[in-house]
Amino acid sequence: MLRLIARATGPKVGRKHQCCLSTGVDYAGQPSQGRRARHGGAGGPGDAGTPFDPGFFSPTGAAGTGERDSGERCWAPSGNNIQPWRVHVVCGRTRQRLVDAVCSAYDRADGSYQAEYHYYPREFFEPYLGRRRKSGWGLYGLLGIQKGETERMRAQHRKNFEFFGAPVGLMFSIDRRMEQGSWLDYGMFLQNVMLAASARGLATCAQGAWIDYHRLIADLLKFGEQEQLVCGMALGYPDPEAPENTLALDRAPLSEYVVVHD
Ligand SMILES: Cc1cc2nc3c(=O)[nH]c(=O)nc-3n(C[C@H](O)[C@H](O)[C@H](O)COP(=O)(O)O)c2cc1C
Repeated sequence: MLRLIARATGPKVGRKHQCCLSTGVDYAGQPSQGRRARHGGAGGPGDAGTPFDPGFFSPTGAAGTGERDSGERCWAPSGNNIQPWRVHVVCGRTRQRLVDAVCSAYDRADGSYQAEYHYYPREFFEPYLGRRRKSGWGLYGLLGIQKGETERMRAQHRKNFEFFGAPVGLMFSIDRRMEQGSWLDYGMFLQNVMLAASARGLATCAQGAWIDYHRLIADLLKFGEQEQLVCGMALGYPDPEAPENTLALDRAPLSEYVVVHD
């Protein structure tokens, strides 16, 4: 998870997820003067009525930048080019309504919301269990959260549902009649979005956490009957001061997952 903030001056390029993002962002990665002045930091995330330029996903690019859709964000490959993705861009008042609704559902914790699909296996096993623990405890360690501090863990997890402070949320959906192949395609699309954001000095955090609340989200964003939530994503500028943004996770060496058959 990123913590994401408003960008006050030059680009503070951070890496990724687990971030703190904030307002004053337009989708082309340019700080918008007017918006930055009004919302930079002080306005707080999700200020009602934040004007928003959907240029990052618009076919002609962000207004005023002259940037055209060069395609790297949307030109992910997919089997037979069926492009099984759909993106809901959430900002301003709608973002706030979504955050409020999901945060209160999370706080009620009455078990009335359940994910439509399982992101993880029901029971973890090695080597995935060890990697998961390393990532979780790495984060909690940075935040000074000890084993057993479940309230603090819950509070940290809750930040997902505030998009970690990001001004813009993305909700990705798929037609639920699609099969696993389209979910493969989807990962490529998500990666493209993240790389495109990063190329513009923005940071993202892909968020599977939202899937528990897919019914709330589907209602609020008026999903079609067959639309299924794949995941959410926070989009903004990273806060380089945030401890969670200093988490540097490594990757398993090639020898752990590459098998050469000569
Ligand atoms: C599809 C997807 C869903 C994710 N969901 C969440 C999430 O809900 N909350 C979160 O904080 N991070 C989430 N992450 C971020 C991962 O935890 C992160 O990429 C991983 O720990 C590796 O960290 P690194 O990319 O900084 O090396 C998600 C990543 C992906 C690709």
